Order: sequence, then C-alpha cells, then structure tokens
Amino acid sequence: MTANLSVTIIMKQPDLSPTTRHIIIDPDNIDPDLIREAADVIRRGGLVAFPTETVYGLGANALDAKAVAKIFEAKKRPLDDPLIVHINDKASLDILVRDISPVETALAARFWPGALTLVLNKKDIIPDIVTTGLDSAAIRMPSGKIALALIKAAGVPIAAPSANLFGKTSPTTAAHVKEDLDGRIDLIIDGGSTDIGVESTVISVVDGEVRILRPGGVSVEEIREIVPRVKVYTEEEIIKCSPGKYKQHYAPRAAVVIVANDRAQTDKCLALAKEAAKRSKVGIMSKAEHAVFYKPFNTRVMGPGDDLAKCATGLFRVLREFDSDGTEIIFAEAVEERGLGLAIMNRLRKAAG
Ligand code: TXA
Ligand code: MG
Repeated sequence: MTANLSVTIIMKQPDLSPTTRHIIIDPDNIDPDLIREAADVIRRGGLVAFPTETVYGLGANALDAKAVAKIFEAKKRPLDDPLIVHINDKASLDILVRDISPVETALAARFWPGALTLVLNKKDIIPDIVTTGLDSAAIRMPSGKIALALIKAAGVPIAAPSANLFGKTSPTTAAHVKEDLDGRIDLIIDGGSTDIGVESTVISVVDGEVRILRPGGVSVEEIREIVPRVKVYTEEEIIKCSPGKYKQHYAPRAAVVIVANDRAQTDKCLALAKEAAKRSKVGIMSKAEHAVFYKPFNTRVMGPGDDLAKCATGLFRVLREFDSDGTEIIFAEAVEERGLGLAIMNRLRKAAG
C-alpha cells in the first residue's frame, strides 16, 4: 500500500524544468508559417536561436536595445564583447554603416552571403549595446537558408552571437543550443547540423590591408585571392584591437593538451595518454586515420587529416561529447595550419588556454 502510494506521488510531480519551444525547419523546404512565427518573436523583442552555415546564432532585433540586452543576459556574456549584425541583402548595409571602401565592397561581393564578417564604421541607428559603445560594427550576410529567411521575414537586421553560454564552445546543432540555453530564450529553430562548424572570419580593412581579427570559415588563402595584403594577427595583437577577444576561451570542462602535427604525433599522443590515464579520465581527439592507434582509449574522430573542412565540422561536436562523458583531460591532435586549419588551431589553442 505504502509503496504504491509513494509511486503515485512521484508520478504526479509536475515537470518543473523550464523548456524553450523547439521547432524543426528543413532548410531545403522552409515552412513559411514557422519562419513567420520565429520572425514575430524577433519583432516583439524576443530571442530566437537559429542555424547559420557556420554555427547556431542567438538572434534579437539589432535595432532594439532592450531586445539586444536580453542576449547578453541569456548568454551571461560580458557587456564589453560586441555582437555581429546579420543582414540578408546589401541594401541594408547603407542603412547601418558608412564610408565603405572599394576593398570592403570587393570582399562583400566575393564572400557574401557567407562566413565573412566585416568590421565597418557604424551609423547611429545601431544601438550602442550592440557594438559595446564602439564606432565600428561587425556585419555579416550569412548564407544559411534559414538565417536568410528569418532576417527577411523579420524585416530588421538581427544581432546574433553564437548561441552558447559565454565561454563554452559554439553550438553546431540545436541540441547543443538546448544544453546551454533551454529555458533562457524564447525559441530554438532546429535546422540540423551546421555546414562549416566554426564561426565566421572577422576582418577589418585598414588602408587597403585586410586584418584577420578571428580566423574562421573563409580562409586566409581565399581572401588573398581578392586582396593580396592580408595580416593575420597574433592573439596578443588581437587582444589590443578586438574588444572582447581576451575573454573568449571556447573552453570544454576538461583540460586540453594539443599534440603537435608532426611524424611523432601518434607516438607522443599515446605516451601522454598512457601516463595521464593513471590519474585522470582521458580522451583523445584524433584524425580519422590515427584512431586505430588509440584503440584502448576513449577516442573521438574530428575528421580525416587531409580534409580540414570535415575536421572543422567535428571540432566543437567532439569537445562537447567529451564534456558529456566526463572526460577530464583531452589530448587533441593538431592539424595542418592551412585553409580551415587556421581556424581549427585558433579554437583549439583557446580551448587549451
Ligand atoms: O559565425 C559567426 O560569426 C557566428 C554566427 C552566429 O554568425 N557568430 C559569432 O558571434 O561567432 P560571436 O559573438 O560569438 O563573435 C563575434 C566576435 C566578437 O567576440 C568580437 O570579437 C568580434 O566578433 N567583433 C564584433 N564586433 C566587433 C567590432 N566592432 N570590432 C572588432 N571586433 C568585433
Ligand atoms: Mg561566440
């Protein structure tokens, strides 16, 4: 009798966990009603997580300071880390920024829509909270179909950082967004895994020279085809000129140790893992072709070493998977620093701290 009663009571406990409405949209067959629902949330000053081709973004009406303030609150993001403003056509650019140079126009023509963010001179229409009081604003026209449809339907530019809690790795699936922000935002659009897997490349153009403030989805090699003068900033230089950067760490809970990309990589990684396994729960983030060497260890594959685009899509997913299984120390195989490899290694170094 008593046992039954207690079972009944447990089953009647209401589910108190807060949940955010989650809608599924097929990027290849976009449901206009669902996009309208999401656009209405944006127009009413709410927060919508949505997929872009890079990572999921947490969007609000970029022209509504109160709505943008909610982004910082939901993410627990410090107020000195400026946001990217997303647009869906080049006409919006003239409303938001001034004095666009020929080099910037050429870069936008080549890479938009796409994973390039341009830091430009802002007009007053962009509230200070978006740019954290700077005279410049970061602008991007994403190529993700859901992102473009959402901005169009909302009829306003959308301010959106990556849709993760501050300091955590960027989300590449709606499940990652839910892990971090469930109950803290109004709506999650689930559009499947993002294509690129790392964030956009952030650049500014000074006297005709492109300065890479954050390596990302568009490679330095691709930019050099349009503008020969490209300067890749070191982390120290970026700290001085790109606000908020110093606080970004893309940190998983585990400690991350990077194992250099040379011929001894697998031997070194194995030796380190064996030693560490005596005390800690070890994980290895491996290139596909090396996974066989690491069999006894908890090994997760980023992608084939000669397919850096594939590795980029695996990077944040693997770091989050190690977080979920309680891994304490991750040995991460370095990849070649060309193409998307530059962005991968940049994020890995930040994860390693
Ligand atoms: O791919 C991406 O860029 C994703 C998707 C959602 O578009 N967004 C993203 O945003 O990664 P977020 O907030 O995680 O990173 C934006 C970074 C800021 O941390 C800051 O360093 C830089 O862009 N940034 C923004 N405005 C800037 C400005 N006015 N000057 C210099 N850097 C700026
Ligand atoms: Mg971010």
